[in-house]
Amino acid sequence: MLNESIRYHHDQLHCDQVALEDIIKSVGTPVYIYSLPRTLSNLTRIQRAFAAVQPHIHYSAKANSNLAVLKTLVEAGIGIDVVSRGEIQRSLLAGARPANIVFAGVGKTADEIRYALEIGVGWFNVENVAELAFINATAKPFQKPRVALRLNPDIPAPTHRHIATGHKGAKFGLSIATVKDILSQRHTYSNVDIAGLHIHIGSQLHNTEATQQAIEIALDCIRPYPDIRTLNIGGGLAVAYSQDDPVPDWETFAAAVTPLLTGYDVILEPGRSIIADAGILAMTVLYTKEQATERFLITDASMAELIRPALYEAHHEIIPVRRESDRDESRYHIVGPICESADALGHDVPLPALQSGEYLAALTAGAYGMVMASNYNQRLRPPEVVVERDGKTWRIARQRETWDDLVRNDVVV
Ligand SMILES: Cc1ncc(COP(=O)(O)O)c(C=O)c1O
Repeated sequence: MLNESIRYHHDQLHCDQVALEDIIKSVGTPVYIYSLPRTLSNLTRIQRAFAAVQPHIHYSAKANSNLAVLKTLVEAGIGIDVVSRGEIQRSLLAGARPANIVFAGVGKTADEIRYALEIGVGWFNVENVAELAFINATAKPFQKPRVALRLNPDIPAPTHRHIATGHKGAKFGLSIATVKDILSQRHTYSNVDIAGLHIHIGSQLHNTEATQQAIEIALDCIRPYPDIRTLNIGGGLAVAYSQDDPVPDWETFAAAVTPLLTGYDVILEPGRSIIADAGILAMTVLYTKEQATERFLITDASMAELIRPALYEAHHEIIPVRRESDRDESRYHIVGPICESADALGHDVPLPALQSGEYLAALTAGAYGMVMASNYNQRLRPPEVVVERDGKTWRIARQRETWDDLVRNDVVV
């Protein structure tokens, strides 16, 4: 979706004040382009929406772990939510202080836990009794780590089934009974400070009721322990991927949940809401094809660069980089070169007749885009470009991979 940063100016698609064609002509396609001004204005909007509870915001690095994005957010004063040693290392490289990192994840390895203890992460979000026991056993020589128990509240999240995490059959979190049980024997975990609860029932949440219910269940669990004052309510703020995407805006979401949270230390872990609509994936039309009744635009971007449509049937608006209003419109399938029928970025996309060599942009692609890119079909992962805070200058923040990168780790005998 277009917004104040990603918009047409004189019929040329811009990222802030930079014409996309300038970037494309210099860097080539496919290329991810992120607006740092939009990233920061999204953060400010979330901070304002939740101002009543003065939350500690930890950007969820899984949404987009580009170093320029992380550094911009760290410099804006927020923490990072990570799920792996790799994400911790990226956060540190971006300048995050370990104490401002919350470490979540359903399958932390022993090495990852030891490393996180050594550097002193701010919180462990714990999802397993054995994990808690291991952290407790390993933490003795270190400063007592803070632990938030991730509660699985058994609330089906109003979102796509692949990104719902709060129903009882999910692999995530600890059941209500387990959380209550651990809390009742807190003193036996003497090397950790069980100081909070964590909930994250899913991403791209389509209503506020499920989160309200989950928070109420969490509050019920900690009510007998007045010293437990921290509630991490995860991420999940939704982003509109099209004009008619019926998602609650962040102010509505915040207004629904903040009254429940008054008096608590609140942690938020937004990912998508900060970076999704700040990013686009630009591509070139390679060929056009008409087959049976269908019209295809075959582009140099594919499910290897943006897997969300293939994985979640997700919708991304796809629009021409140069708007030519005098051309006839038709509906096209936008497909990539990968040998999979699932390799489509959009179906029945209304577009003017385009020719080989012209450019398209998939919008709202900043979150769960590049981080999920792969080398499938031995494709090179694309470069990432950022438009700087001034809105005028841009730079390559990650280079396109090279053919040498593709074989770097192969062992040839
Ligand atoms: C524990 C946790 N926190 C935060 C997030 C970020 O969610 P979102 O990108 O929807 O804000 C996720 C994403 O799945 C998550 O699993």
